[in-house]
Amino acid sequence: HSDPMSMHPRLSVPAWRPAARRGFALLLAGLALLASGPAQAELTIRFAHVVAEDTPKGLAVKRFAQLVAERAPGRIRVVIYPSAQIYGDNDEIEALQVGAVEMLAPSLSKFGRVGVPEFDLFDLPFLFDNLAEVQRLTQGPLGQRLLAGLGRQQLVGLGYLDNGFKHMSANRPLLEPIDFQGLRMRVQGSRVIAAQMRALGAIPVALPFSQTFDALQRQIVQGTENPLSNFWTQRMDRVQSDLSLTQHAYLGYAVITSQRFWRSLTNSDRALLAQALRDALAYGNQIADQQNDKALSALRRAGTTQVHTLSPAQRTKLRAAVQPVYEQLGQRIERTWLNDVQQVLGR
Ligand code: SIN
Repeated sequence: HSDPMSMHPRLSVPAWRPAARRGFALLLAGLALLASGPAQAELTIRFAHVVAEDTPKGLAVKRFAQLVAERAPGRIRVVIYPSAQIYGDNDEIEALQVGAVEMLAPSLSKFGRVGVPEFDLFDLPFLFDNLAEVQRLTQGPLGQRLLAGLGRQQLVGLGYLDNGFKHMSANRPLLEPIDFQGLRMRVQGSRVIAAQMRALGAIPVALPFSQTFDALQRQIVQGTENPLSNFWTQRMDRVQSDLSLTQHAYLGYAVITSQRFWRSLTNSDRALLAQALRDALAYGNQIADQQNDKALSALRRAGTTQVHTLSPAQRTKLRAAVQPVYEQLGQRIERTWLNDVQQVLGR
């Protein structure tokens, strides 16, 4: 892959014979052409994310790039860097703020750490029963208010994208709180998720997504939580013998850009990009469930990881164990956020 951060090499044309000089100039022109592609776009949007291409996020971002290519052919180009190829959880938001990339779609669990902690409410275990409930929140005024909060970090929130519900994995079934005792569990950098693991008796270890497989393989951590599409596309089945269908919490994303980039666009380009993104996110939200179902079938076919279903009584025990997490979040963010969420969900 070409390194988008690298500068063009500084070449100076030496005072050679004219023919050699012409040749050298041609070579430079050729190099420039190679670097820019056959038709140089006026505007290139570098879109980085951390998951595989064959996931709800990977596919939605691809759709966005296609729609932009159709609607602004040759003029605006979206270049995608999946699988944390250039930036990952630890540096992607900074890369966006300094203008090294133009768009990202971090999980909602990753905004607390950059100073917008109200997003942590999406991590509350057993808050949502299904994606329709999530969408009631994300597609309504409360969802818009949350996105607006990203402005405090000079970011622009452009829309929400679902992945789905997370399940617990380890080298043993995780069906009741007792099964979690003393297990080191990889988590995203979210205080709610860390508190959830502690409430279950586990030890949370925050690691970037791109390091999770390796950490599991080397037994630095013993378990983790993922929606099925992430579990399967990272081939975590090779390092986790058991997956328990806990469906205990939600994983979703916000597509973001920087205020600086967004304001640098013409009104018509901004509108074109916003519409292409809305269309791509609608598509992504529509296929998210399907992608997770496909991953479960693939996992079952592979037979590498045993898949466990919880009884209602086991799920009730997990739910009861994590209740303190709600109180802890209530002390960290303004109480109104939680009240408003309960109201939207009709609790
Ligand atoms: C992602 O889906 O973007 C990664 C989530 C994670 O870090 O577990």
